[in-house]
Amino acid sequence: MGVDVNRAKVEMLDSGRSPIIEARMTELVAETNKACRLHATTDANAAVLGSDVSFLCVGTPSLPNGKLDLSHVEHVAREVGTALKGKKSHHVVVLRSTVLPGTTESLVIPTLESCSGRRAGVDFTVCYNPEFMREGSAVADFFQPPYTILGAQSSVHLDLLRELYAGLPAQTLETAIPAAEMAKYVSNIFHALKVDFANEIGTLCKRLELDTQVITKVFTSDTKLNISSAYLTPGFAFGGSCLPKDLRSITRRAKELDLNLPLLESILPSNAEHVTRAVDAVLRTNKKKIAMLGLSFKAGTDDLRESPQVQLIKRLLGEGLQVQIWDQDVSLGRLAGSNRLYIEEVIPHIGSLLSTDFDQVVRSAEVVIVGTRSVDGSQISSRLLPGQIVIDLVNLESSRRPRGTISYEGICW
Ligand SMILES: NC(=O)c1ccc[n+]([C@@H]2O[C@H](COP(=O)([O-])OP(=O)(O)OC[C@H]3O[C@@H](n4cnc5c(N)ncnc54)[C@H](O)[C@@H]3O)[C@@H](O)[C@H]2O)c1
Repeated sequence: MGVDVNRAKVEMLDSGRSPIIEARMTELVAETNKACRLHATTDANAAVLGSDVSFLCVGTPSLPNGKLDLSHVEHVAREVGTALKGKKSHHVVVLRSTVLPGTTESLVIPTLESCSGRRAGVDFTVCYNPEFMREGSAVADFFQPPYTILGAQSSVHLDLLRELYAGLPAQTLETAIPAAEMAKYVSNIFHALKVDFANEIGTLCKRLELDTQVITKVFTSDTKLNISSAYLTPGFAFGGSCLPKDLRSITRRAKELDLNLPLLESILPSNAEHVTRAVDAVLRTNKKKIAMLGLSFKAGTDDLRESPQVQLIKRLLGEGLQVQIWDQDVSLGRLAGSNRLYIEEVIPHIGSLLSTDFDQVVRSAEVVIVGTRSVDGSQISSRLLPGQIVIDLVNLESSRRPRGTISYEGICW
């Protein structure tokens, strides 16, 4: 039973005609309507009373100031809630509209509860199930989704949805409701980012008289580092002798060619902002003695050039903090060439800050910054003293994060 406030849509659907242009929709609507498996109405109350589950798929457009317009979601939640007041059997309410994290729990559930006079999770169930179909291939995407994400406050709330989607050839991921709400945004933002990335690269290639097709083919052929989950785990800023330099030279070249590539130009400022986030996290502790574990930009290397860890230390020293550094990969005596020149220029007295004594560096600090994966999470945890603060830049595995009397903060998790 389809419900809409738009009479024209309802009349079309109820007479077996698709109200939208969409591949396979005309046949699907005609077939299912003829088989008496699809009807439509403007009467939400009757639809709720005559069904076991309601999918709420109303629009969530932008307001002129960019804010999400939740008026349709609120209105439909009120209608369903009012209908639930008179319903004897258990009902499942599934929100499918794209909404910001927290909306189901702060708006939809309270509205359903106040209009029905009943309690969510007890008298009726609420789930969030984001929609991943694309217009133009919506039917095909529905039957072959990338995955099905089911959000609920308790996994038992998902029994009916699990059964409903059991026939789809896709993995089902079960999460809390706000995580399911956010998952939809992360996907859409990433798609938008990819489109504009490809377009800016294409624009640059065309201006450089390069074959964009060839370059796209080469780029997308790398499924290890390019089209993969590599570099998609939140952690610390990038650095080293390649990425910053290469971004700088390519955006500089684009400027010389009078090209405006705001996405590519925003990457280095975004990276710098991430270092600032780390500085702010340390300053917020109001502590003076800092242990920095990790100096090179990546574990397993002693390359200090453009290391964000080095930039972080330099800024902490500038704020008057005392910093002691440990990095098993870095020995000043072994540094040579541009690597040595770089560190001597950025932190001239680095020698007096660097120590090979891990225990002493950790124990004498008030704040321990984990800035390298060279150190084992449990190695840090076993050395920490009550009252110490850990700021994690490398995203230690959950099981290796310190607990109890030690305060732990991840830079972006
Ligand atoms: N369009 C897509 O491909 C797509 C894909 C994924 C997610 N989404 C999300 O799904 C939601 C819906 O998108 P859409 O493109 O279908 O929107 P839409 O505006 O085209 O359709 C929403 C429908 O809801 C109806 N409606 C409004 N209030 C109602 C009420 N109280 N009772 C019954 N019907 C009511 C409207 O009349 C309209 O027909 C949005 O949150 C959107 O972000 C859309």
